[in-house]
Amino acid sequence: MRSDRLDLRIEDLTVVYGGVTALDNVNITVPPGGFVTVLGANGAGKTTLVRSITSLLYLHKGRVRRGSITLGGESILGKKSPDIVKAGVAQVPEGRKLFPNLSVKENLLCGAASRSDVDAIDDSLELNLELFPQLRPLLNQTAGLLSGGEQQMVAVGRALMSDPALLICDELSLGLAPKIVHRLFELLTEINERRGTSILVIEQNASLALQHAADAYVLELGRVLIEGTADELRGNPMVQELYLGGGGEAHTSYAAIERPSRRPEAHGRRPPVSES
Ligand SMILES: Nc1ncnc2c1ncn2[C@@H]1O[C@H](COP(=O)(O)OP(=O)(O)OP(=O)(O)O)[C@@H](O)[C@H]1O
Ligand SMILES: [Mg+2]
Repeated sequence: MRSDRLDLRIEDLTVVYGGVTALDNVNITVPPGGFVTVLGANGAGKTTLVRSITSLLYLHKGRVRRGSITLGGESILGKKSPDIVKAGVAQVPEGRKLFPNLSVKENLLCGAASRSDVDAIDDSLELNLELFPQLRPLLNQTAGLLSGGEQQMVAVGRALMSDPALLICDELSLGLAPKIVHRLFELLTEINERRGTSILVIEQNASLALQHAADAYVLELGRVLIEGTADELRGNPMVQELYLGGGGEAHTSYAAIERPSRRPEAHGRRPPVSES
């Protein structure tokens, strides 16, 4: 298991798809060994953020217009994706993206493609099976035949097979039963606390993400609208209204809620979290 803990720093990041600005001057930090969540509605720019970190923007005709992304102080912007995996970043992509015709074991081993240390790969596989014991009897099963929850475990396990310093999960909860999502978040906490792996969780399930993360950001229309500790965001009336089901029957529509300016005067600064 890797012993180095690396911080991820995203500074002043602006990303465009042709004429569409998907991220606008975004600043996000994941401290070494941290657990951070980025919340946001559909189209907020969450997946674009992940694509920017993992250098997969080019597959979607996107490009970084300005800004920097560093891991442990080293720039990873513009590096090839396999080099970013080697540097210590692994992702569980939105929609899992398993190889449905390969077995569970083959899918897991795909995650170790950047490594050549056979014994250490075996150790990682064993660690994964300790984390997800229900996968052990399914190792030779075709991945496409597993339940959604089991497939998500394989997707997390596959990412862990690269022995990452930072694990990024894009919409882990999508389409899964609440009980399974709860268990997955508990496992992320275990990975974070026991192994020291930094976690960046991109989520629409704000309630659960804010229970497990230490720090949180709200992205809206490509900008960081709110940031703070997860406790601060849980107590923030706007977050409660927008993401935690506040307001009961009088729940204000998403578009109608009054927000602080998304164009803060000071460069790169967000409105204070305590603002109501
Ligand atoms: N390949 C693309 N070409 C053009 N525009 C794109 C492309 N991918 C995303 N966008 C636009 O960029 C913005 C951010 O999209 P993104 O997929 O990052 O949002 P998201 O927060 O992940 O949304 P969701 O919750 O639906 O997954 C949206 O306005 C989207 O339409
Ligand atoms: Mg997305």
